[in-house]
Amino acid sequence: MMEISMTVNNRNYTEEVEPRMLLVDFLREKLALTGAKVGCDTGQCGSCTILLNGKAVKSCLLLAAQADGADVMTVEGLAVKGRLNHLQEGFQERHGLQCGFCTPGMLMSLTELLNNHVEPSEQQIRTALEGNLCRCTGYQNVIDAVKYAVEKGNSPVKMIVDTPGKQFYQRQVEYLVAGNADALVEDNYNDDAVLTSPEFIVRGKQALKAHFRNYMRWVKIKAVKSTDKFVETDNTVLFEATVVSNYGEAKVYDAFVLRNGRISYHFTGVM
Ligand code: FES
Ligand code: FES
Repeated sequence: MMEISMTVNNRNYTEEVEPRMLLVDFLREKLALTGAKVGCDTGQCGSCTILLNGKAVKSCLLLAAQADGADVMTVEGLAVKGRLNHLQEGFQERHGLQCGFCTPGMLMSLTELLNNHVEPSEQQIRTALEGNLCRCTGYQNVIDAVKYAVEKGNSPVKMIVDTPGKQFYQRQVEYLVAGNADALVEDNYNDDAVLTSPEFIVRGKQALKAHFRNYMRWVKIKAVKSTDKFVETDNTVLFEATVVSNYGEAKVYDAFVLRNGRISYHFTGVM
């Protein structure tokens, strides 16, 4: 027996292992992280793929002892606070799996790809999947899942922007990040628009411009980190968003009532 230590999904482990124990068995049996699957045990199928110091490797081809001191990530480490990340969500939204046996390995190979390429080409996605065999889904939906993750990750509002309400909100965010108060009001608000929150009420374009200029003097919106619970009808938009500014991260809510494609009533606040 020998003692090894490694970080797995940002947690430190020290365990006694037999020198011949495979890394995949160590993860599954010693640490009860059963996400990595054993499909072939011979390095062919890729279902056991994990990240070892950021590199996608087949954990059935390594001894646990070879990962002593390493930083390991398994599929269990992908979700953030219990929420699927964009790639996992892409698999769900674009039907990237059927039985799911190959999925943990695919997710890890693709995580390495996305860590190194913000916008991979289809060929790069296909190449990244070369070591991962899937017997039931085929690869097209998996490629679509990666494209979903890329589009959502690169979107300024962290959504697939495929509706008028989402396009409107994206424009709103672009003006806020650019710090362009006048263009924001001119393009997105009606002359008689009302902006209100639990703390204030502002009415009319000139007052709105003054309000946003003052707001932007103090608050620098850097990015929208996520947009949740987005609902819209023809003339209303409602959502929550996690926004990053010079004051850190805040969860906000907004409701827009639109007339002729511009806001006539805007209710907003911090949760
Ligand atoms: S179980 Fe490791 S490649 Fe198949
Ligand atoms: S989803 Fe079944 S093997 Fe890939």
